[in-house]
Amino acid sequence: MAEQSTRLSGKKAFVTGGGSGIGAAIVRRFREEGADVVSADLEGADVVCDVRSTDGVNAAIAETAERLGGLDTLVCNAGISVLGQLHELAEEDWDEGLDINLKGIYRCVRAAWPHLAESGGTITSTASVVGLWASQNQAAYCATKAGVVMLTKCMALDGAKAGIRANCVCPGFTATPLLETFMEGQDDPAASREAAVALHPIARLGTAEDMADAFVYLSSDEASWVTGEALRVDGGLATGIWGG
Ligand SMILES: NC(=O)c1ccc[n+]([C@@H]2O[C@H](COP(=O)([O-])OP(=O)(O)OC[C@H]3O[C@@H](n4cnc5c(N)ncnc54)[C@H](O)[C@@H]3O)[C@@H](O)[C@H]2O)c1
Repeated sequence: MAEQSTRLSGKKAFVTGGGSGIGAAIVRRFREEGADVVSADLEGADVVCDVRSTDGVNAAIAETAERLGGLDTLVCNAGISVLGQLHELAEEDWDEGLDINLKGIYRCVRAAWPHLAESGGTITSTASVVGLWASQNQAAYCATKAGVVMLTKCMALDGAKAGIRANCVCPGFTATPLLETFMEGQDDPAASREAAVALHPIARLGTAEDMADAFVYLSSDEASWVTGEALRVDGGLATGIWGG
């Protein structure tokens, strides 16, 4: 029988957006690596937690720390796609994108910080390659993900003396329900899927597991000297100009 891998054994983790896509893969991989995990999402997870609710986030993190006997691994992954050019974007769409993708991280980190400071823990968030460079028709989404990259650096500096590390993962196009919604919002979804693959020098879409493996590394003690990093996992997408 294969030996159980233990890269995260003893880690107590809380994962937002854990009910689907990248988050669900993170939960699976963390458990395979020996972590104790509470997944949180609007549905399909261990606890219902809407990252737009300060009270909901505070309660979910307090209950998780109580149940697991502490918390040392926070994963801020919940997010939504926001499509549209800025000048035509409805104010409620702007607000919702910012509230979930960026302020949701603030709420989770604020609630988890005392536990992370006690354990010398980690914060690993899901940003995007479009937090590093711009993408057409996604102004608000890009701004939220650039915000995640910068928040990560700030949290790394603010947390260093308390032994807290903060990093983020920047996925390229990854086959999940969120990407499918994005594709369906394009004029020609089939052509958009092909075009998305062609953008990547390693000519395929990412998988949720590709992303989860990066979260395992950054949350593990193997990355004990890595903080403030925005790790691209993107098949080379944002490496440079690529003509196929
Ligand atoms: N799929 C991609 O190509 C891609 C690329 C770059 C970044 N990302 C980011 O990856 C993360 C995960 O997305 P995914 O692709 O797995 O999509 P997904 O839609 O499968 O998963 C996102 C999860 O977040 C949850 N969520 C949404 N709003 C929430 C809220 N208010 N409170 C709590 N949970 C909420 C959803 O219910 C869902 O389970 C997101 O932050 C997304 O922006 C995805």
